[in-house]
Amino acid sequence: MTGIFDSGSGGLSVLREMLKVLPEEEYLYFSDNAHCPYGEKSPEYICDRATEITNMMMAKGCDVIVVACNTATAAAISHLRAKFAIPFVGMEPAVKPAAALTRSGVVGVLATEGTLKGEKYHLTRDRYADNVKVVEQVGRGFVELVESACLEGPHAEAVVRESVRPLVEAGADTIVLGCTHYPFLSQTIARVASQLAPQTDFTLIDPAPAVARRFLAVRKEAGGPVGLPRVTLMASGSDATLKKLFEYYISQN
Ligand code: DGL
Repeated sequence: MTGIFDSGSGGLSVLREMLKVLPEEEYLYFSDNAHCPYGEKSPEYICDRATEITNMMMAKGCDVIVVACNTATAAAISHLRAKFAIPFVGMEPAVKPAAALTRSGVVGVLATEGTLKGEKYHLTRDRYADNVKVVEQVGRGFVELVESACLEGPHAEAVVRESVRPLVEAGADTIVLGCTHYPFLSQTIARVASQLAPQTDFTLIDPAPAVARRFLAVRKEAGGPVGLPRVTLMASGSDATLKKLFEYYISQN
C-alpha cells in the first residue's frame, strides 16, 4: 500500500496524477489539517509531524510514501530517508521546465515561506534558472482558500490577485505552482493573471505529473502495485473538505 500525505487537501492534486499512472494500487491519503498550514511552521515541527505520520502509515502497512507537500519535502524528506527503511517520493520545485518554457525570460514561483527558504529550492533554482529571472512570492491565504473549498468567485480572486500581481508586474509569463494546494486554484490564478496582463499568454506549471511518474518507477522497484485498488481518506481534523475535493476532482474524472 502507498501512503500519501500533506498538511491538508493539497496533496490530492498529486494523488490525482498518481491514480492516472497507477490506478490499480491501494492508497492511504492523510490530511494533517489539524496542524495546517505547514508553510510558516519551523522545520523541526514539520519533521516531527512527518515522522509521526510515517509511523502511523507504516503501522497500517504502507511500504512506499509520497510526501505530497513541498513544505514537508523541504523540511523533512532527508530526515525521513535517514530514519525509515522504505522509499519516499517528494515534491520537486518545477523551476527547470519553467526556465525552458518562458518566453519573457521571467519565471514566477508561488510557494510557501518554508519551501522558498529551503535548501532544496535554492539548489534547484541556482542550477536550472541561471539564464532567466526568477521572482518568488508566497501565495498568502491560498491554503486557507483551498481548505475551505473556496476555489472561485470574488473572494478567491481578491486573495489570489494580491500574490499574483507582483509576479505579473515583474514580467513573469510562466508561473510555477510550488505548493500542492495551488493547482486547485489554477483557474482563478490564470484568470487573475490574464486580467492583470491581457496581452500575455501565461503558462502555469504543476509538478504533480512528473512526481507521479517518479512514484510509478519507485513503486515498481519496491514490488509493483500492492493491495486492492482503492483510496482511503484520513484526516487529523475534519475530513469534510478532503472528501468534497476528492469527489469533485478525482472521482468524477
Ligand atoms: N501543500 C503544502 C505544500 O505543498 C503545504 C501548504 C501549507 O500547509 O502551508 O507546500
